[in-house]
Amino acid sequence: MNSFKTRVLPSVLSADFSKLEEEIRSVEAGPLEILHLDVMDGRFVPNLTFGPFIVKAIDKLSDRILDTHLMVREPAHLVPAFAKAGSDWITVHVEACEDLGATLDVIRDAGAKPGIALNPDTPLARVEEYLGEIHLLLLMTVFPGFGGQEFMAEVVPKIEEAAAIRAKRGYDYLIEVDGGIAPETAGLVTRAGAELLVAGSAVYNHEDRPAAMRAILDAAGA
Ligand code: DX5
Ligand code: ZN
Repeated sequence: MNSFKTRVLPSVLSADFSKLEEEIRSVEAGPLEILHLDVMDGRFVPNLTFGPFIVKAIDKLSDRILDTHLMVREPAHLVPAFAKAGSDWITVHVEACEDLGATLDVIRDAGAKPGIALNPDTPLARVEEYLGEIHLLLLMTVFPGFGGQEFMAEVVPKIEEAAAIRAKRGYDYLIEVDGGIAPETAGLVTRAGAELLVAGSAVYNHEDRPAAMRAILDAAGA
């Protein structure tokens, strides 16, 4: 797949888990390549969601790429279980890891592709030394914890900076944004250099999910 192609990644956090299979099929009917799975531990973030058990169920339901966003303090010991459950990409927060380099190694050793996530107020300089070895860089456009929050436009210069460093050094990490992504904000982030657009409420709060996904891609100029 062309790695820098713009894609919309529905976050199943905003789905109705009482009918999970239907909710997954509804986005598979649209331009779906990657599902975004939000794992929260109640410590790194105040909210608590799900673990490998549910990832395994989702993996059974869908053959798409599972992009797993771990909002978990010191996640290394859990990484093998997520990889085994079907997580293809595993992203950890720099703010949550004592030894980020070792945690990325654990992800690779488990057979998954590693990503680094940054909170809105964490500068890119914190992770610069790892940018040559990751599959994706997730720039949070809200403080993680809950779906449905307002997009933080102040993160846009960091997206531009990440894209400039990538071009200058010939790196190939994907730039992902997460939080408040909707048709109103999609153009802003793709013009800045992002290509993976995570969207929870902007997809799942609409009856017609394929249309909601296409509206985001259209607004992104994809
Ligand atoms: C926030 C999560 C997001 C969230 C996005 O902590 O990482 O993936 O579900 O939801 P929306 O698109 O509604 O902001
Ligand atoms: Zn997320």
